[in-house]
Amino acid sequence: NDSFSLTKQLSDKKVLISAGPTREQIDPVRFFTNHSSGKMGFSLAEAAAELGAEVTLVAGPVQLATPRGVKRIDVITAEQMYQAMLSNYDNQDLVIMSAAVADYRPVKTFEQKLKKQAGTLQIEFERTTDILLELGQQKKQQYLVGFAAETTDVEYYGKEKLTKKQLDAIVINDVSQEGVGFQGDTNEVLVMTKAGKEKKLALASKKVIAEQLIRQFIDDIGVE
Ligand code: CTP
Ligand code: CA
Repeated sequence: NDSFSLTKQLSDKKVLISAGPTREQIDPVRFFTNHSSGKMGFSLAEAAAELGAEVTLVAGPVQLATPRGVKRIDVITAEQMYQAMLSNYDNQDLVIMSAAVADYRPVKTFEQKLKKQAGTLQIEFERTTDILLELGQQKKQQYLVGFAAETTDVEYYGKEKLTKKQLDAIVINDVSQEGVGFQGDTNEVLVMTKAGKEKKLALASKKVIAEQLIRQFIDDIGVE
């Protein structure tokens, strides 16, 4: 039956997935982050595990239950996520960066709580490491997948990221649309592959989208 053969399809395969936001500390009581819920990445981990893969999930700070059979590594900052992805990268078959990594972090974390003062507040930010770009540069056998959240010229920017980060596929969210992206339980995505395939997955629960994505990546890897 179908589910039996799919289970066989991903056994012996190693899958590494990142999920959720990162959090960059400003002072002891404040941080810089984004609205990522982690649901898409957790659903991907669950789907891959159900299909028999050995799954490692690098999770930013989210309150979600660990899917059954998944090895979870909790991280807070972009730097910690980078280290966790890199140290688990070597022997993976499929690697998916679905995390919403902060692009910037405060240049320094204040040791004491910032007190309010008259006038404006200026905090200087610096770039974090682009984890996916690094993974692309170090890629060997891994099938590498990125996500992109765009509000305009979705296909153009998606394709640009696919090429620049040396990905095998990119999953593009048009976050200007209702029911798409960071926080809700549903998603609608456009998948573009290095080989030139383009596929739109219609609005559905993140769990359904996750299953469809994992199946497509398996097909593209050509797992027996
Ligand atoms: N990404 C990453 N490390 C970062 C920033 C992004 O690994 N420091 C990854 C995300 O996990 C995602 C992909 O890069 O898989 C695209 O993220 P996105 O925010 O859409 O694009 P950026 O490259 O950060 O560019 P911009 O935000 O300027 O559009
Ligand atoms: Ca970004």
